[in-house]
Amino acid sequence: MGTETTGNLPPVIAIDGPSGAGKGTVAQRLATQLGFHLLDSGAVYRAAAIICKKANADISSESSVLSALATFQATFHARGTDGVLVMIGDENVTNELRTEEIAEIASQVAVMQSVRTALLDEQRSFRQLPGLIADGRDMGSVVFPDAQLKVFLTASVETRALRRAKQLKEKGIETTMSSLTAEIDARDKRDSSRQHAPLVASDDALYVDSSSLDIDSVVERIVSAFEQA
Ligand code: C5P
Repeated sequence: MGTETTGNLPPVIAIDGPSGAGKGTVAQRLATQLGFHLLDSGAVYRAAAIICKKANADISSESSVLSALATFQATFHARGTDGVLVMIGDENVTNELRTEEIAEIASQVAVMQSVRTALLDEQRSFRQLPGLIADGRDMGSVVFPDAQLKVFLTASVETRALRRAKQLKEKGIETTMSSLTAEIDARDKRDSSRQHAPLVASDDALYVDSSSLDIDSVVERIVSAFEQA
C-alpha cells in the first residue's frame, strides 16, 4: 500500500519537472488531499538566491555563495493552500521569492554541487509523518531516491509560459510572452544540461504531460498510482 514506510521513514511522493508544468499546484492539492507535508524545494533554492543578493555575493564564485549561505538562515512556514511563507531572519521574503530575477539567480547557484549539498539536510528535514509531497527537479533522483512514487510532470514551453504570465499578472507583475518564453527556455536548458543533479525523467518515474490535462485529472492519476505503489 502507498502509505507504508521505507524502513522507519515516512512515505514520499517526488514530483519533478520543469518550471510552470503545474507542479506547485498539483503538489499542494496532493498534500491537502492526503494530509501530507509539502516541500517546495524551488523555494529553498530561491531563498538561497535572496540570501546571496542580500549578502552581495559574487554568484559566479562557489565560495562566495557558500559563505553567504552560512550568514543567513531561511525558515519555511506552510500556509495550507496559500503555499509557503518564507522568512529570512525577521524579513518576510515570500513575494520577492517569486520574481523572475530571483528565479534566475536560483538557477545559477543551483548548478553548484557544494550549494546543492548544503541544501540537502534542509530539504530532507521535511520528511515527516504521515508523509511528504516533494516538488522540485531532483526529488526522485537525489533528495529522496527511495520515494514510494516518482512523478515527472511536464508541459509544452508555450503552455508553461502562458501559465507563468497568468500567475505573475495575478501578483501585479507585468511581463511579455516573448521574454517569458525565452527565460523559461534558457532556464530549462540550464537545469537539464547541468552536470550535477540535472532535470531528467528517471526510468522509474510516472511521466505526465499536463499540456492538455486539467489539475483534477493530474491529481487523480498520481493518487491512483500512489495507491498502487
Ligand atoms: O521551481 P522553481 O522555479 O521555484 O525553482 C527555481 C530554480 O531552482 C530552478 O530553475 C532550478 O534551477 C532550481 N531548483 C533546483 N532543484 C530543485 C528545485 C529548484 O535546481 N529541486
